[in-house]
Parts: sequence; C-alpha cells; structure tokens
Amino acid sequence: MNAAHPDLILIGDPVLRRRARPVTDLGEAPALIERLAGLLAEIRGAGLAAPQIGIPLQALVVEVRPNADFPDRPVSPLIAMVNPRITASSEDEESDWEGCFSVPGLVGIVPRATWIQVDHQDPDGTRREQRYEGYVARVIQHEIDHLHGIFFLDRMPNLLSLTTIENREAPAEE
Ligand code: NI
Repeated sequence: MNAAHPDLILIGDPVLRRRARPVTDLGEAPALIERLAGLLAEIRGAGLAAPQIGIPLQALVVEVRPNADFPDRPVSPLIAMVNPRITASSEDEESDWEGCFSVPGLVGIVPRATWIQVDHQDPDGTRREQRYEGYVARVIQHEIDHLHGIFFLDRMPNLLSLTTIENREAPAEE
C-alpha cells in the first residue's frame, strides 16, 4: 500500500498546493469521477482527490474497505463528490493515523472532527447535503483538504508521530 503510482502527483508538485477550481461544466464530472474511482480501486486506497492526478478541479472519491494494512476499517459504498463544502462539523475531534498516496510511505496521527456535514453535487449534478461520521468522515476531510492545497502533514499538531508504514507496524526496540 501507499507505493507511488505513475498517474499520481506527489508532494512537492505545485498543483497539490493550489486551490482546486469548482467544476462548472458538469458534463465533465462523470468521466472525471469514473477515472478517480478506477484509480482508487487500482491502488486500493480509501480516497482520492482530482488534484492528486494533476487535475485542479473540486472532485473526489472515497471508498473505505478493510485491507491488509488496516483490517479494522469499516466498509462504505463509493462516495463521489463534486464541489464539496463542509457546512458543519463536530467540536469533538478524534486522533487517528493517516497516510496519503501523494506522500508515499509515511503515516502520522491527525486530529479530525468526528462528524461533518457536507454540501456537494453528485456526478450527475444533483445537489445534496449529507452527514458523515467516524472513519469515513475522516477520509472525506482529508480529501476535501486536497482541494484546498492542504496535506495531512499540515494538520498534524506535531511531527513526532510521523513514521513509515513499516515502522508503525513493527516499531524498532529501544
Ligand atoms: Ni491524500
């Protein structure tokens, strides 16, 4: 997991630090979402935002499934969002591990709101507002951050928990 894929843009590329533009031509949305969903399945990730494939538009996909690295993850259906905006969130935060396909190999502990309410459009343009909680809410917050040029690293209160995936699983003896 988390190895670099040739279609993925990595940290250091300016596109990942820019604000993504709203999708105004909704005719482009289904193909963009389909491409993101296909790549997400290929890399077995939990979420992917359009800037991560070099497209500076406000679109993302999230699909949470357990995998070898995270066997306790819940299962979510494929969530596709165009022009998402967080309209409300819990004051309570929960800290948990996050990684990012644009930051290969590294994970760190990030506090996130435990629930969020998101206004967004479906790929067909239908507008909806929906509440998400738990791990799915965490992933959506991470992906929406990508639309604003923000990495999980920027959300870490300190960098002391930053580690490689391998070292998190099997910490060296002190
Ligand atoms: Ni990411």
